[in-house]
Amino acid sequence: MPSEFTSQKETALFQPEHVRRQFPIFEREVAWLDNAATTQRPERVLRAMDEFNRRHNANTRRSVHRLGAEATAAYEGAREVVARFIGAESPAEVIFTPGTTVGINIVANSLAHGGIGPGDEVWISAQEHHGNWVPWLKATQTLGAHLRIIPLLPDGHLDLARFQEGLAGGRVRWVALTWVSNVLGFENDVRAFCAAAHGAGARVLVDAAQAAAHVPMDVRELDCDFLAFSGHKMYGPMGIGVLWGRAELLAQMEPFILGGEMIGRVEEQAATWAEPPYRFEGGTPNVMGAVGLGEAMGWLENLPAGAHEHVSALAREAAQTLAELPGVRILGPAMERVSLVSFCVDGVHAHDVAQVLDGRGIAVRAGHMCAQPLLRRLGVESAVRASFAPYNTMDEVNALVEGVRAAQELFA
Ligand SMILES: Cc1ncc(COP(=O)(O)O)c(C=O)c1O
Repeated sequence: MPSEFTSQKETALFQPEHVRRQFPIFEREVAWLDNAATTQRPERVLRAMDEFNRRHNANTRRSVHRLGAEATAAYEGAREVVARFIGAESPAEVIFTPGTTVGINIVANSLAHGGIGPGDEVWISAQEHHGNWVPWLKATQTLGAHLRIIPLLPDGHLDLARFQEGLAGGRVRWVALTWVSNVLGFENDVRAFCAAAHGAGARVLVDAAQAAAHVPMDVRELDCDFLAFSGHKMYGPMGIGVLWGRAELLAQMEPFILGGEMIGRVEEQAATWAEPPYRFEGGTPNVMGAVGLGEAMGWLENLPAGAHEHVSALAREAAQTLAELPGVRILGPAMERVSLVSFCVDGVHAHDVAQVLDGRGIAVRAGHMCAQPLLRRLGVESAVRASFAPYNTMDEVNALVEGVRAAQELFA
């Protein structure tokens, strides 16, 4: 696409430069196209965390002093922000975790306490990140249950019909599904999977790690049972994430992390648990992280109109242009892009492509992207991934394509 057209389009719809200026890290020269791994943080988020550290730092709930009360108010205030952001019935459904992985581990671990038995089935999809694969693998192996995989259709979409056949067997208890694949980059119709699973009495956990920054999250509309995501992939800090669960299910669930702050009463030989969400938040919480995440959600809600369309337009443009390069294979349909594109270059290892790009100031991901089973199904060992955010520009897409061409020439 000619760059004059590109800049006109950007000016008409949305100005990435305006967003970019809010991110101190871009005082450095970098085309940050590794947003699916982690996004950068705007000044607003950094300030809120700094303010918490400078003025309000204390442990929550257990302190009677005023700083303790302020820290507790900040933490619980962030929980309310999250609850509103995802459409939860109440803040009590919002569990702060260190990230998506831990959230999924909490749920998978609780299966060992009555949720599933020998011969039962847990279904995940072939698109899953290791974070939504390995916990279910371990849980099913431990319990004598079976891990079943929703296969891919030729274009990479999930095979709903095959899943429905599986449900008809009557042994499916749990389904864990990614909303947006971190490799293929399109939105799965999770609502359809939730409806089918619920029709067969199964519970559904949605991995929203790659959706959270780009797709409006409304847990009631989605009609899932659990949803997990990470703050650091949505302009918040690392080390904080959310597990949302339906109140009635959380109330039945056993805790995973045991210790301080998650108990009701402890005797020498017995213990009772606190009510959710505290039952699942053993130990000192990441209050600063929660404050940062709440602020990041506020920042996301205030993004100018066109920001999300800009992100997916960048990903589509990158996919289309790269697909036109001889010897480049795009993973997934070129036009269905939430925010990222993964690709392979014939005869050039993904790490070599990434290194050439890094030499040009462009940061991308390269490797198996924590989705080895998926890559194997796609017939590749590794891939390069460019992932976008509202602060990225069409000029960066053009530089990416130029860089890939340069890598091809270098390794030809
Ligand atoms: C789809 C998906 N699920 C889970 C994860 C794990 O997230 P975290 O490492 O923040 O726990 C990621 C991270 O890349 C992801 O992309």
